[in-house]
Amino acid sequence: MLEISKLTHTYGTGPSAHHALGGVDLSVAEGELVCIVGPSGCGKSTLLRSIAGLLRPTGGRVALNGVPVERTPDNLAVVFQDYSRSLFPWMSVADNVSLPLRRRGMDKKGRAEATAEALAQVGLEAAATKYPWQLSGGMQQRVSIARALAYRPALLLMDEPFGSVDAQTREDLEDLTLRVRGHHNMTILLITHDIDESVYVGDRVVVLSKAPAEVVGDLRVDLPGPRDQITTREHPDFVHLRAEVGRLVRGMRSPSASAR
Ligand SMILES: Nc1ncnc2c1ncn2[C@@H]1O[C@H](COP(=O)(O)OP(=O)(O)OP(=O)(O)O)[C@@H](O)[C@H]1O
Ligand SMILES: [Mg+2]
Repeated sequence: MLEISKLTHTYGTGPSAHHALGGVDLSVAEGELVCIVGPSGCGKSTLLRSIAGLLRPTGGRVALNGVPVERTPDNLAVVFQDYSRSLFPWMSVADNVSLPLRRRGMDKKGRAEATAEALAQVGLEAAATKYPWQLSGGMQQRVSIARALAYRPALLLMDEPFGSVDAQTREDLEDLTLRVRGHHNMTILLITHDIDESVYVGDRVVVLSKAPAEVVGDLRVDLPGPRDQITTREHPDFVHLRAEVGRLVRGMRSPSASAR
C-alpha cells in the first residue's frame, strides 16, 4: 500500500544544512501496523510529514497505492506529536472531531454517530461539549486520536500519539489501537520513542538510525495473540525483541541475524 524509496530530506542549504533523512526505504502492506522507532531528533516526524504530503522531500519517492504523494491524500489521517496545536480552540470537542467528516461530505446524522462513537472509544463521551482549552494535555491528545478514528482513514499516521497521557491511559490507548485496526482494517504507521510500546502494538518494528536517518532494522513481531498488557510483556519473544530493538536504536550491532 505504501512504498517509500530512497527518501531523502535536507533542511536548509549551505553550511547550515541539516540532512534529516538519508535514504529511507520502506514498504508497508495493507492492514499492517508498523511502528517506527529511532533516536530523538533522527527524522521520524520529517518522515511522517513526507508520507502525509505535508512536506516535499528533497529526494526519493513516496507512493500510496501506486500513486506518488504530492499533497495530503483524502484517505489519510494524522495524529500529530504536537497535539496542543492540532485542535481548534474555538470549536467544541465534538465539532473538532466531526470537522473532517463534514469536509468529506458525511451527513449530519452520520457525523454525530461517528463522533460519539470515537469519543466513547477514547473515554471522552462526557467532554463532547467542552472546548480544548478546558481539557488537560492528555485529554486533548485523546481528542486528536478520536478525530482520526472517526475519519476511518485507510492509512493512519500517528506521531508519538500517547506521549502525554498517564501510564494506565497509555495502555488503554495501545489496546484501542490494536482493536480498531482489527475492526476497520486500517493500515497504521505509529511513531514512538517507547521501545516496549513498539513491540507491544506492532506487527513490525522499523528502526531508524540517527540523522541522516536510514532504516537499520526491520523486525517482524510474531507474538501469540490476542496481545495482553501483562502476559505479552513477559513472553520470552517480547523480551528478546525489546532487547533487539533497544540495541538497534542505540546503534549497537545485533547478535542475531533478524536485523537488516
Ligand atoms: N522545519 C525545520 N527546519 C529546519 N530543521 C528542522 C525542521 N524540522 C526539523 N528539523 C530538524 O530535523 C531533524 C529531524 O527532526 P524531526 O522532527 O523529524 O525528528 P524526530 O525524530 O521526529 O524528533 P523527536 O524524537 O524529538 O520527535 C532535527 O534535527 C530537527 O532539528
Ligand atoms: Mg518527532
